Amino acid sequence: MIGFNRSGFSKIRDQFLLNDRLRKFIENSVFFKPFVRAQAEEIFDLVSGFVYSQILFACVSLNLFEKLKSGPINIKELSVSCEIDFPEMLRLVEGASALGLLEKREDESVGLGFKGIVILTKPSISGLVKHHSTFYRDLIDPISILQRKKKITSLGSFWPYALDKKDISSISYEAAKNYSDVMSISQPLVSEQIRSSYDFNKHQKILDLGGGQATFLIQLAKDHPKLKMAVFDLPQVSEMAEEKILEAGLQDQIDVHKGSFLNDRIPIGYDLITLIRVLYDHSDDNVSNILHSVKKALPRNGTLLIAEPMSGKPGTEKMSDAYFGMYLLAMGKGVPRSHKKIFHLLRKSGFSYIKSLSVTLPIQTGLIIAKH
Ligand SMILES: C[S@@+](CC[C@H](N)C(=O)[O-])C[C@H]1O[C@@H](n2cnc3c(N)ncnc32)[C@H](O)[C@@H]1O
Repeated sequence: MIGFNRSGFSKIRDQFLLNDRLRKFIENSVFFKPFVRAQAEEIFDLVSGFVYSQILFACVSLNLFEKLKSGPINIKELSVSCEIDFPEMLRLVEGASALGLLEKREDESVGLGFKGIVILTKPSISGLVKHHSTFYRDLIDPISILQRKKKITSLGSFWPYALDKKDISSISYEAAKNYSDVMSISQPLVSEQIRSSYDFNKHQKILDLGGGQATFLIQLAKDHPKLKMAVFDLPQVSEMAEEKILEAGLQDQIDVHKGSFLNDRIPIGYDLITLIRVLYDHSDDNVSNILHSVKKALPRNGTLLIAEPMSGKPGTEKMSDAYFGMYLLAMGKGVPRSHKKIFHLLRKSGFSYIKSLSVTLPIQTGLIIAKH
């Protein structure tokens, strides 16, 4: 049987396309026209993507989606409320309309575009977009990020625990709040996927390790009032979790443990431990340490649930390998991993019955469970 040899195919394709005469033939052929056009548009998107992102950033910063929530507004009125002169406001409206964020109407007014509606209904997205100003400062010079020339990057300062400080107590409450607020606001993107793919009813006690301000548990507690829960995070962040739990009146259902999962013992007595958007922040060595500690803390047959962006499923490459690949590099620590790589680390730490769960939107998170 003749097998499909991908690298053999790529070699022939490269030789074909690098030949000027053959490439010109393809570019001018009616048969290949749709493909050639699609490629040209995709390449244009790559070239100009940073401009699109900044148009989105301007819309979010000016609160345009919120302003247009109740219906279209005359562009002149909008320019007054945004303190931007009319011609420049029109420029932004037209740019954002070209991207499907807004919709310029015939009568010189502007309403929401389809993408604008989605972004408005998911505040997580705007939260992430706002914090991108920090990432953008590092991306101005991608080569120095790739060469790891900068000791302290903007993103590294934003996520102080990524600086590998031995003394985590030196992280200020304000610094912890800045990153923790972004995590909290973007949490629904992940938690809605977890909650629709995993049945929590089979558990009695859940520990959310690196659970931030307990946003995930507070949501979960509403659907599962009988489940006992606890969050474990750095002391500075745990203080915020305590406040949020108290505000939600859930102090009898959700406990708070303060410490570092790299240095302190993980509390025992929980039949489910969750690691949500935690492992990708860490090196393989740290991940192995965390997984070993989790295994020690779990009872026999206890479950570990991992949720974070993962590559290796169709459609996740840009999110995982391009976006998080560069993000974590700029942050100075961590790496996006494939399902396969996480399986390998779990096996090495002694876990069994490891499997991926399917989620509706793998671009938002991957899900893996494993048993003690
Ligand atoms: C990317 S955030 C994810 C937060 C939360 N799980 C979520 O998905 O919104 C990583 C969390 O791990 C916590 N963290 C980082 N290093 C830690 C450590 N050594 N011990 C305990 N928590 C830590 C951070 O404070 C932060 O809350």
